[in-house]
Amino acid sequence: MAPSICFLLLSLLFLSSSTSGDEEGFISVVISDKGLDFAKDILIDQAVASIVQSQLPQIEKTVQVPLVGKAKVVLSDITINDIQVNSSSVNTGETGIALVVSGATADLSLKWRYSVSSWLVPIGISDSGTATVKVNDLQVGLTVNLRNQEGTLKLILLDSGCHVRDLSIKLHGGAAWLYQVLVDAFAGNIASAVEEAISKKINEGISTLDLLLQSLPKTIPLDETAALNVSFVDNPVLSDSAIELEINGLFTGRNEVLVPQAYRRGSDLSASCGDSSPKMITISLHESVFKSGSLVYFTADSMQWIVDELPDQALLNTAEWRFLIPQLYKKYPNDDMNLNMSVSSPPDIQVTNKDVGVNIFIDITIDVLEDGEVIPVACISVDFSASCAVEIVGNNLAGWLKLRKFSTYLKWSKIGKLHMNLIQSVTSTVLKTVLIPYLNSQLLRGIPLPILNGFSIKNARILYAPPWITVCSDVSFSGDYYLQQLPAYVS
Ligand SMILES: *[C@@H]1O[C@H](CO)[C@@H](O)[C@H](O)[C@H]1NC(C)=O
Ligand SMILES: *[C@@H]1O[C@H](CO)[C@@H](O)[C@H](O)[C@H]1NC(C)=O
Ligand SMILES: *[C@@H]1O[C@H](CO)[C@@H](O)[C@H](O)[C@H]1NC(C)=O
Repeated sequence: MAPSICFLLLSLLFLSSSTSGDEEGFISVVISDKGLDFAKDILIDQAVASIVQSQLPQIEKTVQVPLVGKAKVVLSDITINDIQVNSSSVNTGETGIALVVSGATADLSLKWRYSVSSWLVPIGISDSGTATVKVNDLQVGLTVNLRNQEGTLKLILLDSGCHVRDLSIKLHGGAAWLYQVLVDAFAGNIASAVEEAISKKINEGISTLDLLLQSLPKTIPLDETAALNVSFVDNPVLSDSAIELEINGLFTGRNEVLVPQAYRRGSDLSASCGDSSPKMITISLHESVFKSGSLVYFTADSMQWIVDELPDQALLNTAEWRFLIPQLYKKYPNDDMNLNMSVSSPPDIQVTNKDVGVNIFIDITIDVLEDGEVIPVACISVDFSASCAVEIVGNNLAGWLKLRKFSTYLKWSKIGKLHMNLIQSVTSTVLKTVLIPYLNSQLLRGIPLPILNGFSIKNARILYAPPWITVCSDVSFSGDYYLQQLPAYVS
């Protein structure tokens, strides 16, 4: 099914007028041959399910039958009972994505009835019965393209065609002349009815998919502070063997005031998953995604925590410190304390060859709680670096922090000079027992990867390719979501 010249020209026009914006995406999604094949099979299954049990319009004709007379023949209840797809293919090229189904077969059933009147038999005779039709060679082809429309994807049907090349009819009952009439006068109409019905379903299916794409959210709320901007950037790039989609991918504040997008996409993406076992999709996240998250949470003041519980709760009472920090105990005997931890600049995040390096500056203010008053008595500055290992949890990219090293100094004190050893051991305890576990509980929730509902990441592999993190993965399909979307299941 070659796309008609007209549509080819049209799609060329689309391409040449496509603006290559200067915007860039920080999450890139590449769907490989293997992924397209997988998607194609799902689409064909869904399409077949929507066509099977379709009823075609009734066909009636009056034909002059030699030696019999004038016969009025009506075919009704023409139903497509089954479709078998033997071979199909999907190809991407500059003009679009072409899907071809060839050599499919279809089984139809129908009811027939006729009445004959002639001068020989004035009373008229009539009969009725059933027949089955086998479509032996059904060809279906369509070409679509994807365009970016204000941040969402629009699916455009450029061309589609359906052609029945061969069909055979089996009559249950009826006269020999009827069989001949069906073959000679009706086969063409049945073929076109099948072609029309399938073409109509394809159009409906494409509209449904288009609606589905357009209903994808442009931002995904993550929590009360941040959302992920998942707007598409630029038009999808179709190449010989893949489709590449770019997504903005940066964090934004929930009720913001745009976060300055000061990050530029540094180097071009060249990550590949290696050839050992090709995967369906490759999702790459630029380190700017993580940096933007760091900035959003920092700006929203959500990097401050009051710690009033420690595994060793005694540490949060001045009595515990009466020998080590006599001044503290003398000024505030037997008072409870808490720690006010406050990150002092947006954490620095860098993708390296083996992990994500995180550097955090934090001020730990020691507060004494006396008569309902919070009295800051000393402040320790901590500079710590951690290594974050990235992992897949569900459809999210999550992380796991491990403390690498830290350095600290006393910023100020109203309770005399504190011993370096003391500061270090307090800091170490707080980092290991409070801060890192807390951050890990947050990081475990992860960033949602751009995967359609109904699909799940399967057998993912993570590669560090600074400044990108690349997830190569297959996907599996649970189906439920799509079944609700398709017209066949709506009506
Ligand atoms: C299915 O396709 C294969 C080759 O693609 C062909 O050999 C076979 O005859 C086809 N079967 C039917 C039922 O058309
Ligand atoms: C989301 O990303 C799109 C595309 O880059 C951009 O035009 C839009 O301004 C961004 N929205 C926010 C809230 O940052
Ligand atoms: C915690 O400390 C920061 C400065 O380090 C300060 O701005 C903030 O008000 C303090 N929070 C509380 C609840 O004391």
